Amino acid sequence: MMPTTTTIRVAGRVNVIGEHTDYTGGLALPMAIELGTTITVERTGDVVRLRSDKAPGEALVPLDIADPAAVTPDWARYVAGVVAELRPTRGAVGRITSDLPVGAGLSSSAALELAVAVALGFTGTAQDLARLGQRAEHRASGVPCGILDQLAIAAGARGLLSRIDCTSLEVRPVPLPEDLVILAVDSGQRRTLVGSEYAQRRAECLAAEAVVGPLCDALVTDLDQIGDRVIRRRARHVVTENARVDEFIAALGRADYVAAGRLIGESNASLRDDFEVTTPQTDALAERLSTLPGSYGARLTGGGFGGTVIALCARDIDLPADLEAWRLRPADGIRLMSGTQ
Ligand code: GLA
Repeated sequence: MMPTTTTIRVAGRVNVIGEHTDYTGGLALPMAIELGTTITVERTGDVVRLRSDKAPGEALVPLDIADPAAVTPDWARYVAGVVAELRPTRGAVGRITSDLPVGAGLSSSAALELAVAVALGFTGTAQDLARLGQRAEHRASGVPCGILDQLAIAAGARGLLSRIDCTSLEVRPVPLPEDLVILAVDSGQRRTLVGSEYAQRRAECLAAEAVVGPLCDALVTDLDQIGDRVIRRRARHVVTENARVDEFIAALGRADYVAAGRLIGESNASLRDDFEVTTPQTDALAERLSTLPGSYGARLTGGGFGGTVIALCARDIDLPADLEAWRLRPADGIRLMSGTQ
């Protein structure tokens, strides 16, 4: 049998609101975006062999790979993580191209994981695919990420935000009104969650849950029981952020973009003051973007410690010439471009 060539396009994501809520089973409202990663493979042989236009070296992964974290170069770990989780019986040779900046908080690693998984023959639900990508990420990087990035992409659909309940993994589509656009600006501050305070934040949330139970069910008034002031502030971010997700959806539903934008701004303030994952650069950028005529509000998106700032804007917003920004609308998360899956 002649090997067939398959090309798959997998999106990056921005999270519109609901940040640092996924790993305590809370709510998030992301969308898949036009920027993404394209993989072309031929299924053949008994290794997975990929090259990328984004990074040097080759990912050369045996199908029985035991320790993905030990694979080099670094980017090949994500490929190895997927191979270890999926255990395909046939290898692949191929290449990856991407217009997703690495380290900008737009989920380039999740896009890579899902692209490799689908190219290697994954079949199943969006939730199954997202869980597989998440496990691959844990194995590859050691970062205890939640399900947000992978499920945002796996469930992403044109024109729609995804309201994700990170306890049940139920996804509810929420149309982004046609007269809105999400502006995204790279702060230029590169971040990696590897070795960042991400794991510490997760541990702080667990410490809060040891006192008040699941944060996704807690009320702000419950948090008075938490003696430690830092832990209490972390928990307050999560509890108020969960509430903001549904308030934001309701505001969009009644076309009250001013209220929706205010919630975006409150999310950024909470990430800055209570959760402490913003930086002076992202704060300054959020301030600038929130005051542009036509902008309703701006916030850091993604894990933080640098990365990308987004703004909810009127679709016809005029941008200053010196501002390099992506104008984003929700896109399909995964598209088969040619071949068979
Ligand atoms: C990163 C993680 C996600 C999520 C966000 C914060 O993107 O990979 O699981 O925790 O940070 O919302």
